[in-house]
Amino acid sequence: MHSLKKKIYIETLGCQMNKSDTERIFGIMSHFGYEQAEENEADFLIINTCSIRQLSEDKAYSKLGSWNARKKRGEKLVIGVCGCVAQMEGEKLLKKFPYLDLVFGTHNIYELPSLLETRGKVCAIRKEAVKEEDFNIIRNKNINAWLPIMEGCNNFCTYCVVPYTRGRERSRSVDVIINEAKQIIKDGFKEITLLGQNVDSYGKDLENKPTFAYLLSELDKLEGDFRIRFTTSYPTDITDEVIKTVKCGKKICECFHIPMQSGNDRVLKAMNRRYNVAEYRKIVQKIQNEIENVTVTSDFIAGFPSETEEEFQDTITQIKELCLDYSNTAAYSPRPNTPAGRMTDKFIPDEIKKERLQRLNETVREASFISNKKYVGKTLEVLVEKENYKDDRRVLEGRLRNNKVVHFESKTHNVGDFVNVKLNKASLWCLFGEEV
Ligand code: SAH
Ligand code: SF4
Ligand code: F3S
Repeated sequence: MHSLKKKIYIETLGCQMNKSDTERIFGIMSHFGYEQAEENEADFLIINTCSIRQLSEDKAYSKLGSWNARKKRGEKLVIGVCGCVAQMEGEKLLKKFPYLDLVFGTHNIYELPSLLETRGKVCAIRKEAVKEEDFNIIRNKNINAWLPIMEGCNNFCTYCVVPYTRGRERSRSVDVIINEAKQIIKDGFKEITLLGQNVDSYGKDLENKPTFAYLLSELDKLEGDFRIRFTTSYPTDITDEVIKTVKCGKKICECFHIPMQSGNDRVLKAMNRRYNVAEYRKIVQKIQNEIENVTVTSDFIAGFPSETEEEFQDTITQIKELCLDYSNTAAYSPRPNTPAGRMTDKFIPDEIKKERLQRLNETVREASFISNKKYVGKTLEVLVEKENYKDDRRVLEGRLRNNKVVHFESKTHNVGDFVNVKLNKASLWCLFGEEV
């Protein structure tokens, strides 16, 4: 199984949880002498897949096709598939793509070393997650570090595969998280994003039942110049304690990602979301009233099975009325083995889904512009993430605490600096300013 050059490339699709897993896989593989390489130089290729929509699954299959073509041309390659499609499909993938050498699920990345010692084709899918051992993590040399605090989901929204691909909720202990955070800070990262499919459920499965608010406040106490972010929040699970902790925390950024999915009560019920529009509005408005300069972002699905035009209109209305700062959008994609995926007689035709998605995106664009314009005239802290050159001007790019992207010219500041910037112009997706 071990190749000669020992160069590994991982293509990562899907959410931040996958990106974080990829960093962990790189870490594990480094114990076996593998180093990261470009796609065309590596002889061990892994695709870390996402199955949230058919489109994401198809992306993986097309990439695998191109790797198989390289194999056919005589290149000595080891090809692996991991992530959510692997967890869902397991053995079926080996049958469908006989050229695969390795398939492993989301629950067994820490078993990789023993898998690699096995000869021949390997398919390893476990129903239960394997505990992490003390492998390194090779993080992207970046400003932001991902820190998973929990994995899995117990919510079973009727459209969603995640509870099947990631299993039930499992929290990492406060100590493990704090230690990882300390290492991240020591390594020079300036921002830590806490990851979980539903961060507000943090700790419910642990012995002393530490709350998410407690974890946040403990992290906020750590020494150093850094920011803390978190994602994703489930609307009705956000507690007053969390809101208060974000408000009072020095390092915790004023930014909540709270997917609403639909602005209509009947659709929300059909999605098995455990809140109605009024409850969602209440929590968002509470956050907006309590916390200065906060942003609230969301996710919406266009064309959920049985959604009528009027029900879709309700979604558009909510985005506008709630002044949601930004939203991810997607056309509903039927997923195997999910309740909504079985509502075939209620499916919305593709053209209608596409057309609704366009209108949804138009609304999100308008809302984003309105939201950005609110910040013109304010002076706020930017964490610089990139340096760009436009003609001979050096333009730095970074984000406000509330996650809005800002561009400003600077000769003195560098990536990783915290800079106070006076915002003087808004565009659809970002702000422009000058350092003060
Ligand atoms: N845990 C988060 C979201 C995880 S999935 C939450 O509870 O909201 C990210 C987003 O993908 C979802 O918010 C949803 O908007 C979208 N999504 C999930 N399944 C989908 C499907 N079958 N079709 C279209 N969009 C989907
Ligand atoms: Fe999927 Fe719902 Fe869980 Fe989010 S809360 S991961 S949308 S099942
Ligand atoms: Fe996709 Fe799995 Fe994330 S399905 S969105 S990679 S949890």
